[in-house]
Amino acid sequence: MSVVTSPAWQRVADLRVVRHVGAVARARGLTLGIVDALDGEVPRGASALVAPIEIAGRVRGALTLDGCGDAGAPGELDVLATLLREAARDVATVLADESIAAAAEPAVRSRYGAIIGSSAPMQELYALMDRVARSDSTVLIQGENGTGKELVARAIHDHSARRDRRFVVTNCSAFNDNLLDSELFGHKRGAFTGAVADKPGLFEVADNGTFFLDEIGDMSPALQVKVLRVLQEGTFNRVGDTETRKVDVHIIAATNRDLKTMVERGQFREDLYYRVNVINLVLPSLRQRRDDIPLLIETFLDRQRKHGRGKRLSPDCLARMMTYAWPGNVRELENEIERLVVLSGDDEVIEEDLLSARIRQHAAPPVEEAPEVEPSSLPEAVEALERRMILEALKRNRWNKTRASAELRVSRRNLIRLVQKYGLDAVAGES
Ligand SMILES: Nc1ncnc2c1ncn2[C@@H]1O[C@H](COP(=O)(O)OP(=O)(O)OP(=O)(O)O)[C@@H](O)[C@H]1O
Ligand SMILES: [Mg+2]
Repeated sequence: MSVVTSPAWQRVADLRVVRHVGAVARARGLTLGIVDALDGEVPRGASALVAPIEIAGRVRGALTLDGCGDAGAPGELDVLATLLREAARDVATVLADESIAAAAEPAVRSRYGAIIGSSAPMQELYALMDRVARSDSTVLIQGENGTGKELVARAIHDHSARRDRRFVVTNCSAFNDNLLDSELFGHKRGAFTGAVADKPGLFEVADNGTFFLDEIGDMSPALQVKVLRVLQEGTFNRVGDTETRKVDVHIIAATNRDLKTMVERGQFREDLYYRVNVINLVLPSLRQRRDDIPLLIETFLDRQRKHGRGKRLSPDCLARMMTYAWPGNVRELENEIERLVVLSGDDEVIEEDLLSARIRQHAAPPVEEAPEVEPSSLPEAVEALERRMILEALKRNRWNKTRASAELRVSRRNLIRLVQKYGLDAVAGES
């Protein structure tokens, strides 16, 4: 058996039905593979049979059989395919039970209070944060707008030994160079027009605490040199001052820009890049953790609840939110929920027509266009292929499901289920 990935999936390999298929496969010189939707790799070789593992309408992985090219008689391939599909269905049932049990545990939401998310990418992030919070190494947080960079930085501080000291935030893109210089390092009286008194900078304010340097990619070359010095030696001078001062700060930097490329283009100092990038946290976009969307929605709806009963989204409304791309990530989702709560007035159920136009229009592309989206994982590719093959067979057979199922070599019952799954009945009406 090949490719067992995350620990949750380790259990799958031990299921009786999976062991049975594994044995049948082995007897024919084939290899059974288990692929996890999140980080599964496509097994190489003459893999011919793939059975998706689908939970709550989403493909979470697949069982595969490798080397079916020499499986013998064509009839035998059918038997194997059926066996594999049945096994995938059993696996889905078992996994669904387990994930329901897991979701009931509040701790799974996040052990970092304000940070919501229990998906695999977030679990990985929490595991890294646990380690980071215990160390003083500089951290670089990267992620698209609204993915929670500041939230994560704050959470690291709150879980560190420095939690009783200050957490200081500076946005490096919000100032001009001279102002930022004085803001970070302070100044001596008379250092420039308007410097009427000595003033400590934020590095001093953050002493023994955490300093969050937001948008570090926007910092000028001159300031990059000064920050590098603080990182390397813990020393700096106030603007216009000869006295060298020392601080002990844990620096967390963040950016939504690609710092590595900026280094290659000479826009960001390489030495500072390596000094900042000791530990790298890359925050997943909302698109990479769609499983968390319902949980986030529920949380934001709860936060908006002033009194009385809470609101909820209609299934259609939720479905559209699940498929939208969320370029503004959690912030965009949070704002949309706030907007929906206001617009829905006294209604308990929020309907789809209240959604912002961009979400309503982009969320559900016409069924025919769906395959144009480049699949990003094996399960997505499997679904796209499966959908296309079924659609083509149905068209060839003028939507006669008995004939199409015979051609596709799946049972009629199974075909009907798949037609429903892919919403192909709607296409039948159009063509
Ligand atoms: N995982 C999360 N759980 C709950 N709320 C979140 C999460 N991630 C982000 N948010 C919320 O989304 C908003 C944006 O978060 P934050 O400011 O930390 O993002 P950012 O990555 O720093 O964004 P930007 O790049 O635009 O500065 C905040 O209101 C924050 O509370
Ligand atoms: Mg931010």
